[in-house]
Amino acid sequence: MKNIVILISGGGSNMASIVRAAQTQAWEKHFGARIAAVISNRHDAQGLGFAQKQGIPTQTIDHKTFASRASFDQALAVAISHYDLPDQPALVVLAGFMRILTPAFVAQFEGRLINIHPSLLPAFPGLHTHQRAIDAGCQFAGATVHRVTAELDFGPILAQAVVPVLPQDTDKSLADRVLTQEHLIYPRVVRALVSGETF
Ligand code: GAR
Repeated sequence: MKNIVILISGGGSNMASIVRAAQTQAWEKHFGARIAAVISNRHDAQGLGFAQKQGIPTQTIDHKTFASRASFDQALAVAISHYDLPDQPALVVLAGFMRILTPAFVAQFEGRLINIHPSLLPAFPGLHTHQRAIDAGCQFAGATVHRVTAELDFGPILAQAVVPVLPQDTDKSLADRVLTQEHLIYPRVVRALVSGETF
């Protein structure tokens, strides 16, 4: 069995796309992989309700109740480690998880920690990616799934999707177009990592 732990902060639509792919493609039967838990740093993350309806254990670790970034990350690491199996460390999937992780956390999970970022990295790390792409006059935008390393939004790229930027685009319309593609590439990468198949 391979456990997948998904971390969210908000809507959780990427998480939902991975959960749906796991269900429709029977990852548990074919690859022994299951979404073991969804963890949020916000009680009001809308994605928690979806996960609960699917029967997936959820947990909130509110970063505001910790004195430091390091102590929050330690609590998060303990919660995730609960899903490590003796022969199989859990795959940790950041899906709209809006916290910067400490180098110590990244080092502990490196090699099994992935993220999706709403730009064509290495362009536009950080926030407000869609408005920045529009402001820069980009003709294309997109999303990147990458391994997480200590440098923010920078690790080795696993998959990208490209969309056009249209003349009338707002950050919202561009974000929606990119998000549709995120929902396609993120489940594909997670499936590849738990199955050993390529994509
Ligand atoms: C997604 O667009 C994701 O790429 C982005 O937040 C959104 C979350 O949507 N992530 C980041 O900006 C990470 N820095 P979701 O909660 O509906 O999956």
